[in-house]
Amino acid sequence: MKNITADELRDLYLGFFKSKGHAVIPGASVIPENDPTVLFTTAGMHPLVPYLMGAMEHPAGKRLTDVQKCIRTGDIDEVGDAAHLTFFEMLGNWSLNDYFKKEAISWSFEFLTQHLGFSPEQLNVTVFRGEGKEGEDGYIPADEEAVAIWKSLGIPEERIFRLPREDNWWGPAGTTGPCGPDTEMFIDTGREKCGPDCRPGCHCGKYIEIWNDVFMQYNKNEKGEFEPLGRHNVDTGMGVERTVCMMSGAPTVYDTEIFAPIMAKIDELREEGRGNREEGRGNREQGTGNGEQGTDLDEEETLRARRIIADHMRTATFILCDPKGGVKPGNIGANYVLRRLIRRAVRFARMIGIAEGFTVKLAETICNKYSHVYPELKANLEQCRLDLEAEEKRFNATLDKGEAMYKKVAEQLKAHGQSQISGKTAFKLYDTFGFPLEMTVEMATKDGLTVDKEGFEEANRKHQELSRTTSAGSFKAGLQDNSEVVTRMHTATHLLHAALHKVLGPTANQKGSNITAERLRFDFTWPEPMTAEQKAEVERLVNEWIAAGIEVSKKTTTVEEAKAEGAMALFGSKYGDQVTLYTIGDVSKEICCGPHVANTKELGGFKILKEQSSSAGVRRIKAVVSNM
Ligand code: ALA
Repeated sequence: MKNITADELRDLYLGFFKSKGHAVIPGASVIPENDPTVLFTTAGMHPLVPYLMGAMEHPAGKRLTDVQKCIRTGDIDEVGDAAHLTFFEMLGNWSLNDYFKKEAISWSFEFLTQHLGFSPEQLNVTVFRGEGKEGEDGYIPADEEAVAIWKSLGIPEERIFRLPREDNWWGPAGTTGPCGPDTEMFIDTGREKCGPDCRPGCHCGKYIEIWNDVFMQYNKNEKGEFEPLGRHNVDTGMGVERTVCMMSGAPTVYDTEIFAPIMAKIDELREEGRGNREEGRGNREQGTGNGEQGTDLDEEETLRARRIIADHMRTATFILCDPKGGVKPGNIGANYVLRRLIRRAVRFARMIGIAEGFTVKLAETICNKYSHVYPELKANLEQCRLDLEAEEKRFNATLDKGEAMYKKVAEQLKAHGQSQISGKTAFKLYDTFGFPLEMTVEMATKDGLTVDKEGFEEANRKHQELSRTTSAGSFKAGLQDNSEVVTRMHTATHLLHAALHKVLGPTANQKGSNITAERLRFDFTWPEPMTAEQKAEVERLVNEWIAAGIEVSKKTTTVEEAKAEGAMALFGSKYGDQVTLYTIGDVSKEICCGPHVANTKELGGFKILKEQSSSAGVRRIKAVVSNM
């Protein structure tokens, strides 16, 4: 194994696939275009979906290779361990209905063993074991073809693992689209097995996944079925950070050359913070205003905090400097993810004694490390700097207020001879001032106080305010499959449309609609702002229909027949000969592609967040369904 840098790995990979007839194409923006089902680009295949589907030909040909900036925040709570990151670079090669399993697997093997220098004995692979019964609906055969190819390359049966869909199926990137069985390559680190069932994919750390070859032969349609795509595509993905980590023998991704300057800068900022605090103690008037809490975290907690700051600031910098632009810290969707990343970094920085103003300094370090590969970092650094500065300031002011509130609470408790902070107070600190429970616990411990953690959880559970739970949920769900939420929003849109007709009359007609996992947006013709009464009535009606548990049915028909039945639709737009008509009891009938829930009760609840002007004579409603 060679100890190589990320720069060398990118060059080696692209060069190898170029030698196999691939065109090197530029990676895409981290902010996906025209896809409401994901907030960020999650894999190299994502920008290539139309070509994988065969909707059009790629101008660069049928064999492509690139490096793609990816963001996945589904596992944000794991960040800080050895391998989880919210941003990573993915190396990939694609066959757009050109070569298939034999070439893909053989080239993966060749690159790993002859170019990266892994020994074939270290290599363990997994393949899809199939599901269903032959001749029955939903049957997908085991990938014995991949097994045979691996064997022909010298990988013995005992290092080939046949696993179910959870392990060996990839895609689609959003709700629908290309997907298929995959074969994943793992490097055996030589560590002890974690038990008799230890195998690639068991996450004990013995086997590290290094590459994934996906055979995109299927399309997941809007009904959730896997239909043969009629094309044999290959989509592969190799993580740059993980591979560099494995090859350099570094214990974690944060110990690689990739993170070295960022971690060094964090340590420098901590040193500075320490210096400032000591000076501040000598001269109280010149205190840093940065609080003194948390500077005595134990070593492990401090290490984790440093890694979280490094990871989150790297992701935030790439989002803010993205050439497509437009994502700023905010309260919904991608903006919310960005805000949470920055604020989480600020909180952890505060905990380890880093002074205000650090986000910009880290962005500069990150820009220096990467701008030769991603020139957008340099080009957009100025704007990134302004956005970071503003967000950091804003959040620090909130935290200062929270700290003041905490101090008051602590003093009062002490004055009354009490020693426990109630769950309700801890929750208020969290909810209003952004203090995570562990931060409150930490401050309390220092003051000899305890915190009612169960009470906090209870208060958290009770906190049913819709918009907030939806946003928080969206962050947690991150880039995982948001299709369920989107489906519920689709149905909610039909109910909203029907309610608007009831309350405002038949001229309140749909002008447009856009759905993300965070909210639905609905534009309709109406000359003036809705009154509070009208809004409340619309909300009440929709919730009444949800509570009534009305069945949603669908049928295929023609536009003429649907019209004759009184269906609503965007009749100005083009529909094919056959359309799908969705009927919700006697409440709504609309032509639509779906997908929809089976029963309105699946929506849980409905709330209008905003009603505003969209353009002259058109109003816009933003609304959410409740978390299930
Ligand atoms: N799209 C595949 C992945 O992300 C290669 O693993």
